Amino acid sequence: MGSKITIIGAGSVGATIAYTLSGENIASEIVMIDINKEKVQGEVMDIEQGTCFRDPISIVCGDYEDAKDSDIVIITSGIARKPGQTRIELTQTNVNILKSITPEIVKAAPNAIYIIVSNPVDIMTYVFTKISGLPERQIIGSGTILDTARLKFALSDHFGVAQKNIHAYVFGEHGDSSFIPWSGAYISGVSVDEFYELMKARGKDIEAVDKEAMLTYVQKSGGKIIANKGATFYAVSRSVCQICARVAASSDSIATVSSMMHGEYGIEDVCLSTLTILGPNGIQGKLPMRMKKEEIEKLKASADTLKSVIAQIEW
Ligand code: LAC
Repeated sequence: MGSKITIIGAGSVGATIAYTLSGENIASEIVMIDINKEKVQGEVMDIEQGTCFRDPISIVCGDYEDAKDSDIVIITSGIARKPGQTRIELTQTNVNILKSITPEIVKAAPNAIYIIVSNPVDIMTYVFTKISGLPERQIIGSGTILDTARLKFALSDHFGVAQKNIHAYVFGEHGDSSFIPWSGAYISGVSVDEFYELMKARGKDIEAVDKEAMLTYVQKSGGKIIANKGATFYAVSRSVCQICARVAASSDSIATVSSMMHGEYGIEDVCLSTLTILGPNGIQGKLPMRMKKEEIEKLKASADTLKSVIAQIEW
């Protein structure tokens, strides 16, 4: 028996998450909720008509009460970034939308694990944590799971080695103050720098990783995709489905997702991404990765950037 998953917001991201879930065996029931009922009905029809090729799944256009007994609720509502806009520029509008949704959905599904996807995702995760009244373990911001996926793709492409062998992460804000803690970046147990030396010694035609360029690639990917095609939705949807799969799994796993900090690395009262243990009950805790002093400073700087945005929110 798969999970019951409710998706709020049927824009490109919400609809693509529903579509992606319909191709996997995580959910047996998907409820889609959006103020634009016609759009949801269209999305539901388009997605459900491809489901004869899989195990039975129910996909419905619903209202908040239909979210009752959801295992997972995914919040994607809000305006999306336009070309040239930063995620932070969406803040007040999307906070207001979140404030209108939260009481209704929390009343309908108080025990669900919530995955916050709307941007700026760290701010939205923080606001949801503050206004929902739910236990923090139930609240997961998609955070830098997508940035980490982008980094893995780029490193895999650079070295010509499978992504599953790459263990490297993006920490901090899902945005311009994120950074890569290179001291925790490994390719199958060998540090990225050492891997380069080893491959070069074997005669592989390879360049050293340009770490600045790699970070720029990660940070600018979303903006570049928006400039080219108007929106980003495929990779983020895969990332969110990955979070659903991990929450639905029987064992714990580790991902870079956003959640409330409680003094880890000297940071508190802000949501951002570091190594986080996910399991059937949601967030099980954080995994304190050993980092260099300057990396911890970068994480603190990212926290400060987010705090300065939080300070400007009209609650
Ligand atoms: C991106 C959006 C989802 O980075 O923030 O693609």
